[in-house]
Amino acid sequence: MRAVAWIDDRLRMIDQRQIPFETETIDYEDYAEVARAITDMVVRGAPAIGVSAAYGMALAARQSAATDVPALLRDLATAAGVMKAARPTAVNLAWAVDHVMDVARSDRFTTPNAIRAAILDEAHRMAEDDVRTNKQIGQYGAALIKDGDTILHHCNTGFLATVDYGTALGIIRTAHEQGKHIHVLLDETRPRLQGARLSAWECEQLGIPYDIIPDTAAGFYMRRGEINVVMFGADRVAANGDVVNKIGSYQIAVLGHENGIPVYSAMPISTVDLTMPDGDEIPIEERDPAEVRAPYGCEIVPAHFHARNPAFDVTPAHYLNGLVTECGVVLPPFTENLRKTVESKK
Ligand code: MRU
Repeated sequence: MRAVAWIDDRLRMIDQRQIPFETETIDYEDYAEVARAITDMVVRGAPAIGVSAAYGMALAARQSAATDVPALLRDLATAAGVMKAARPTAVNLAWAVDHVMDVARSDRFTTPNAIRAAILDEAHRMAEDDVRTNKQIGQYGAALIKDGDTILHHCNTGFLATVDYGTALGIIRTAHEQGKHIHVLLDETRPRLQGARLSAWECEQLGIPYDIIPDTAAGFYMRRGEINVVMFGADRVAANGDVVNKIGSYQIAVLGHENGIPVYSAMPISTVDLTMPDGDEIPIEERDPAEVRAPYGCEIVPAHFHARNPAFDVTPAHYLNGLVTECGVVLPPFTENLRKTVESKK
């Protein structure tokens, strides 16, 4: 089963809030419901929300009663605004919606139904492209992992975070499939626990040896020499190579650097945003503090206690040894090499 799939003319998504206890899916026929599912994190992970948004736009086109092209484009522009507002940080979301809008506006299509069909085709193409891309990232990244390595991984970057296969966890999966004897330490990733709940569930299914560790234990294992490589994903990469990713990525990158351990971030080129000169320009989502006070309803402190909940942080590029993309591993100097890599993809 894929995290995101088009089945029987509906968008079907695994409800990631239920994993690892239940594997339930929800079907969507309404684009506004898809946007809500992205906000509520039924689906999460930068590539997965990008493709979900593209399918959401296909639903919006179908929901529109427009009988001429200008009217349909107006309805789609409204839907695009709703979709893009669902989560602000991962650029894949806006990238996918803008891309679909470009297709819709193309003068190749002269009827509303032609546009509706073209948007759905484009969403399918994006979904298949994501899977192919992830497998390429896996091949390039696995070359950075040696037999016997222990990898520290943050958040969830596996098949649930993408359409299938995954990025950083896809690299780990590829190394495992290549027969390398590896072990993964999975940061639990507070407050939503994507590492403990989702990455551990994926490792269970794939037979990859792992241990969940408290986020606070990463430095402990690094100093003991038990971690060889640090790997995480990305929600947006700035032109200078700064990586915005799940909250807590920054601290493990600094710790890895301090301990002489290579630190890699993995992402499709669609996650690179060359319009952002550095990571500090990228909007960081602040989520409901209730997620900190009572993760998944498990009350840690009374509801009136004060809390803050930034969902992402910025890892400055100089803490990173490389950026693993479908076009290869981008090495420093990132500003120059990232631009060249993005251009080569075009
Ligand atoms: O808040 P989330 O769970 O959507 O955050 C996900 C991450 O930060 C991932 O590391 C990132 O999207 C890369 S997933 C391939």
